[in-house]
Amino acid sequence: MIYSRIIGSGSYLPRNVVTNGDLARRMDTSDEWIRSRTGIRQRHIAEAGETSSSLALEASKAAIASAGIGARDIDLIILATSTPDYIFPSTACLLQAKLGIKGCPAFDLQAVCSGFVYALATADLFIRSGQHRCALVVGAEVFSRILDWNDRGTCVLFGDGAGAVILRADAKPGIMASALHADGSHAGVLSVPGNVRGGNVTGDPFLRMDGPAVFKFAVRVLDEVARETLAKCGRQVENIDWLIPHQANLRILEATAKRLDLPPEKLIVTVDTHGNTSAASVPLALDVALRDGRIKRGHHVMLQGVGGGFTWGAVLVEM
Ligand code: UT7
Repeated sequence: MIYSRIIGSGSYLPRNVVTNGDLARRMDTSDEWIRSRTGIRQRHIAEAGETSSSLALEASKAAIASAGIGARDIDLIILATSTPDYIFPSTACLLQAKLGIKGCPAFDLQAVCSGFVYALATADLFIRSGQHRCALVVGAEVFSRILDWNDRGTCVLFGDGAGAVILRADAKPGIMASALHADGSHAGVLSVPGNVRGGNVTGDPFLRMDGPAVFKFAVRVLDEVARETLAKCGRQVENIDWLIPHQANLRILEATAKRLDLPPEKLIVTVDTHGNTSAASVPLALDVALRDGRIKRGHHVMLQGVGGGFTWGAVLVEM
């Protein structure tokens, strides 16, 4: 049997840190409101010259170094983003060129905040089929570019960043099970409903969201999909060493752990310092906890995404 294992990880955050206090000086909000409703204290915002591919490049270089491989060993690139540099070519192709490699397939995957979990599950299938042996899987976003900075209900929630892992074929798992879902009937609840037509922006180019509706949906499906993924590989909630849900809101994370009967100490939390970085949030949190030594070899980590679409999913990984 061929399985896939995570053999390295990396992440990158723009240097520009924007605190809740900074936002409160610009708009009608407060540190107290943002922290009590979301747990967020600050977020990183990309400078004008930074793009998803430039953030992805830094995260990928760190992942390649931590895996102890060379960029030429990569034979598949999947990049999850909803904020690509261009309509086309894909950000994955731009990243491939920036890494100085060519030839291997490279494509973007768009599943909004579930993007990294979708990309990881997809790369696992490519590797388990025997088609590819060493995948670079990235989540990279510059959500600050699609926020309406006059809408205090959304703009305080998000940040920019990128995270990446190297997934390599191995005789042992690795990725133990995954489950992916979507329900497009909720498209209007969380969307950027604009586009470009005839050289002009048509519709609304900013992120719009019914926050409370997303909140309720997220807590329910994160619980369900964790249990579904565990059942697929015959594991129990007690086997989870670390839970890394999409980092949208501390209250969603805590409610998910509670529904699963997991102690809050098993949650990896980065939403407080990163904000919601959409497809980048899960690999960013994974990299933080691998580097600070909390996640060790042999630990079972449940990665979970939920977001626009709606999309949701989970991957259970033995590190
Ligand atoms: O990645 C997936 C995408 N998004 C999410 O996961 C977000 C999920 N939802 C949430 O995290 C929460 O629903 C929010 C943080 C967005 C909102 O929290 P809430 O407790 O559901 O608050 P609310 O939307 O019910 O708003 C309550 C009040 C409103 O005032 P009134 O009408 O009660 O007087 C808002 O106008 O809070 C007001 N408000 C703010 N006040 C200060 C909304 N945004 C702000 C703000 N500062 N930034």
